[in-house]
Amino acid sequence: MIIESESPSNIALVKYWGKHGLQLPLNPSVSFTLEKAKSITKVEWVDSETFGFNFSFEGGAKPSFEPKLQKFFERISELAPELEHAHLKIDSSNTFPHSSGIASSASAFSALAIAIAEGLRVKRGEQDIDITLASKMARLGSGSACRSVFPKLGFWGEHKDVKGSSNHFAIDVSAYMHPVFQTYRDTILLVDEGVKSVSSTAGHALMEKHVFRKNRIDQAFDNAQQMMNILSKGELNDFVDLVEREALTLHALMMSAQQPYLLMRPGTVAIIEEVRAFRRDTETPVCFTLDAGANVHLLYPENVEQKVNTWVNEVLSAYCNKRYLCDQVGNGPRWKSSV
Ligand code: PMV
Repeated sequence: MIIESESPSNIALVKYWGKHGLQLPLNPSVSFTLEKAKSITKVEWVDSETFGFNFSFEGGAKPSFEPKLQKFFERISELAPELEHAHLKIDSSNTFPHSSGIASSASAFSALAIAIAEGLRVKRGEQDIDITLASKMARLGSGSACRSVFPKLGFWGEHKDVKGSSNHFAIDVSAYMHPVFQTYRDTILLVDEGVKSVSSTAGHALMEKHVFRKNRIDQAFDNAQQMMNILSKGELNDFVDLVEREALTLHALMMSAQQPYLLMRPGTVAIIEEVRAFRRDTETPVCFTLDAGANVHLLYPENVEQKVNTWVNEVLSAYCNKRYLCDQVGNGPRWKSSV
């Protein structure tokens, strides 16, 4: 059987930061699913006595990914017992530059989890792919990956005000989205394309004994509920405030950890100041957010795209060596299989 899948990256509006148990989040998170920054994965599934896999990235060997994949397959073995008798030949590639500093684990693990869920569907003789199962498996590869299996807006983490929410998988909350957010744009400014000095895994671990741990968890529960409200009502000013607060809080948590560290670069700070000045001077509802790195995501509605593009070209591109990607809220993953 051959399975081909594609899955996008996502950008969190309320950030998942800190985990416990087997990749369970300390707090709920919500993200826009992107459209263009995606991973494309091909899996050749061959029946075999015992489990095994080969992995290549863009056609070439990638030994550094193998331990991560090994761990992923161990973790999903209970969810996908059929793999015990499968050999998988996996090839993956990204539509965005390989070492651009864009988190590729979310798109990579969601694309792989979807391919496996599709393989399981065929083996089990089922009509429809089990997308919740795909989300659970993606989570076991990389937490944030579990939100990428859904179109437009994914919510992960149990929250009393969000029906059906769970720590084990993300859910599709796109039905709650005001139309203005359904075509939202994301320009990703590549400030630093190098490998991060501190990985997300190490960052999550620092939340265990973080002095602000409890306050952050309480705040994230409140923010997740507020964000859902804002997203459903289409309140752009409140969106700008909350998205930027979440981004700065994430980085403040890194800077105030037991072993503090800083992932923003001078270009990151300069862009943040430019965004605030541009918004004040032109009343354009553009805001910034950051993931665990130096790159800046600019989020804005479709109707100001021209204006923002001109400004990015004329002003912001100087801070990122003219390296940026134009993305937007997207329709989630795609897959197909042939036996
Ligand atoms: O999925 P991980 O372990 O790479 O963690 C990602 C964490 C953030 O990107 C900073 C926030 C998020 O919710 O995506």
